[in-house]
Amino acid sequence: MMKIGILGSGSMGSGIAQVAATAGHEVLLYDNNPAALERAKEKLLKILNRLVEKGRIDDRTAKAIFGRIYFVDHVRAFAETGFVIEAIVEDLGIKKSIFEQLEDIVTEDCILATNTSSLSVAAIAAACSQPQRVLGIHFFNPAPLMKLVEIVPAIQTGQAAIEQSCNLIESWGKLVVKAKDTPGFIVNRVARPFYGEALRIYEEGIADVPTIDWAMTEIGGFRMGPFTLMDFIGNDVNYKVTETVFQAFYFDPRYKPAFTQKRLSEAGWLGRKSGRGYYDYSENAQKTAPNKSQHLGETIVNRIIVMLINEAADALYLNIASRDDIDLAMTKGVNYPKGLLKWADEIGIGKCVERMDALYHEYLEDRYRCSPLLRKMARDGQLFYG
Ligand SMILES: NC(=O)c1ccc[n+]([C@@H]2O[C@H](COP(=O)([O-])OP(=O)(O)OC[C@H]3O[C@@H](n4cnc5c(N)ncnc54)[C@H](O)[C@@H]3O)[C@@H](O)[C@H]2O)c1
Repeated sequence: MMKIGILGSGSMGSGIAQVAATAGHEVLLYDNNPAALERAKEKLLKILNRLVEKGRIDDRTAKAIFGRIYFVDHVRAFAETGFVIEAIVEDLGIKKSIFEQLEDIVTEDCILATNTSSLSVAAIAAACSQPQRVLGIHFFNPAPLMKLVEIVPAIQTGQAAIEQSCNLIESWGKLVVKAKDTPGFIVNRVARPFYGEALRIYEEGIADVPTIDWAMTEIGGFRMGPFTLMDFIGNDVNYKVTETVFQAFYFDPRYKPAFTQKRLSEAGWLGRKSGRGYYDYSENAQKTAPNKSQHLGETIVNRIIVMLINEAADALYLNIASRDDIDLAMTKGVNYPKGLLKWADEIGIGKCVERMDALYHEYLEDRYRCSPLLRKMARDGQLFYG
């Protein structure tokens, strides 16, 4: 079995190492910070022991998985690997320099993948003399639990590298979707209105945080409300993704970040991890009850969902991914109760266009422009799954 090299032993690198070793590969895990490598070792041991305690795997299997992970102190060890996944700090300059270095170490046919969430895969591939072997393989956090993986070929990536990568990642039990090398790929692009529109509704004073979360879970059927989810992800992390996507889309107002979240982030109200975010997580915190008005709840849900549908339709319109991959990405990557394009069919494409146009006429902001695909489909009486 092919040896896998993983660069960076942080949250993502150690998770991916666990996935690959569980699938039977020998894994070389490298980090330029020895303390981080040591932490990864302890964390992996702890996770595997917990799996044994819970009866998910037996002790022998846990030991075998751990035994397949080699914590290496130099990237030169990657000479033996057939496949490398980079999960180091999200910095284009540093990623480019490590890819350039890697090419002098690995064999001719070794595939080089980046787990970047927001950088251009083409820009990373350009650092290599053989860019056809470079692609994006975007895992979600925590990698061992999240089924979805976005495969992101750069314009330079060769077909062989794409096929080999899809086969390998599928053999690890993952669900693979293919996305164009554009900001946010599928999930981090299509999901933006889940946060952004909730924040806008809050900023306009239409509803408070608990009410929006109540509406989205109880009426919308989402597992977590947007504010609970932002507090869970961390407002610093979630804000950064929004800001990066906004900048990468040449400041398209559709992705504009919210001051509310920026201030929370600046104040250190990062969410669960800091004990306070949109909610107070201290022991004796007072909880505000949501306003359970059905009418208000439906207004909130309809507005956020139509913005999500519009984003999904535009991603399809611009060939970011296929219909099935967009719906799969949102149901498996972020646990949406339904695929957004399927949802559009159920609501009615004409109704979606009406709702988008009503928002546009109310605000006269480009943020609320209806996707040309939805408009065309409504005109032609088409369905996404027709
Ligand atoms: N955390 C997430 O939710 C998530 C999800 C998907 C993708 N990603 C992407 O995965 C990558 C890693 O993210 P993370 O959350 O695991 O970060 P992290 O900060 O937890 O880990 C990064 C690790 O890389 C190491 N590192 C930095 N520069 C290095 C170098 N030159 N050589 C070797 N090691 C180096 C650091 O010491 C650190 O241990 C980023 O590109 C990020 O955008 C993160």
